[in-house]
Amino acid sequence: MDKSKQALLQALTGQPIARTPVWLMRQAGRYLPEYQALRLKAPTFLDLCLTPALASEATLQPVRRYDVDAAILFADILLVPYALGRSLVFQDARGPKLDPVDSGAALNKLDWNPKKIESVFETVSLTKRKLSPKTAFIGFSGGLWSVACYMIDGDSRHGFPATLNALRQRPGFVQSILDILLAATKEYLLGQIQAGVQVVQIFDSWAGLLTGDDFLRWVVTPTNRLVDLLKKERPDIPIIGFPRGARDEDYQVYVRHTGVDALSIDDSISLDFAKDRLQPVKPLQGNVAPSVLLDGERVIRQEVDRVLSALGPRHIVNLGHGVLPKTPPDHVADFVKAVHAWKPG
Ligand code: CP3
Repeated sequence: MDKSKQALLQALTGQPIARTPVWLMRQAGRYLPEYQALRLKAPTFLDLCLTPALASEATLQPVRRYDVDAAILFADILLVPYALGRSLVFQDARGPKLDPVDSGAALNKLDWNPKKIESVFETVSLTKRKLSPKTAFIGFSGGLWSVACYMIDGDSRHGFPATLNALRQRPGFVQSILDILLAATKEYLLGQIQAGVQVVQIFDSWAGLLTGDDFLRWVVTPTNRLVDLLKKERPDIPIIGFPRGARDEDYQVYVRHTGVDALSIDDSISLDFAKDRLQPVKPLQGNVAPSVLLDGERVIRQEVDRVLSALGPRHIVNLGHGVLPKTPPDHVADFVKAVHAWKPG
């Protein structure tokens, strides 16, 4: 595959870009009618993730419909706890539910069985064969902190009180879970890389629960350890970090001290701050508010212009979080077109 033609890889590695890259977090999913139809072919969401023919099709759907610069593997961050032996169900309206790791006994029972998620790597190879050489292929995992939150609390409904309490009462317990997740996540990402993804993104969706010293200890340090382990084996694979919801100053610490190659920013970050304080350190991705895609073409074009006028044509255009289920599919097409048509004013 000729990586030299991929705008996303070019932007991440400092080469001249063929065009401004754009893709969308959750570009596969419920807002697409073809995804809704595909979803019915698997009894559960977990089956969808673990059936290569179906997961590969879900990965490719948005790439067929839109001129996006990247495909993102269709899988989930919670497949890592699943392969550590936790039960996992995706409840339709209420999100994922795991059996909580709430005791030393539960911790001791964690047992990594990569066979449970081997099919994800098959999805990668199957998809890779079908992708155009111009489309970059992104793999992903959760940030260790965010996955630990789901493991300790079991779900996100109450804002992870058990996890936040454990940080104070039993920091050694939380650290043990992070250590286990470090080894497992490293294998999960290296498996994806081995099978053909060219970039990985670390989704630390709940990074914003912590600030200051806690953010450094529980988000930045574990991410840095993961990045170091990956870089030791595959220094050629760019890593995008996404500490969603973190405060401005914590984003600065993250981009300086985790070792990631690029930073994905959520829509709470102002463009001035991004331009002055973050972009000089690493390439940026983001940060159009997902709700903008509920608006019409004029608003979408204005937003694309606002972001690119501030951050320039090498910025990786994306949303500040995932596509909302109510998004009209045509608006995603308008968004991608607006990026590729953009000229400095
Ligand atoms: O297109 C893509 O971005 C690739 C696929 C992808 C999914 N999950 C599929 C999915 C990715 C990158 C993820 C990451 C993920 N999963 C995150 C990090 C990003 C974020 O949203 O902050 C998190 C926290 C999870 C855990 C998870 N999985 C939640 C909280 C939910 C339920 C909420 C929701 O949005 O529905 C899921 C289910 C899930 N993962 C769906 C999809 C398409 C919806 C399931 C369905 O089809 O009904």
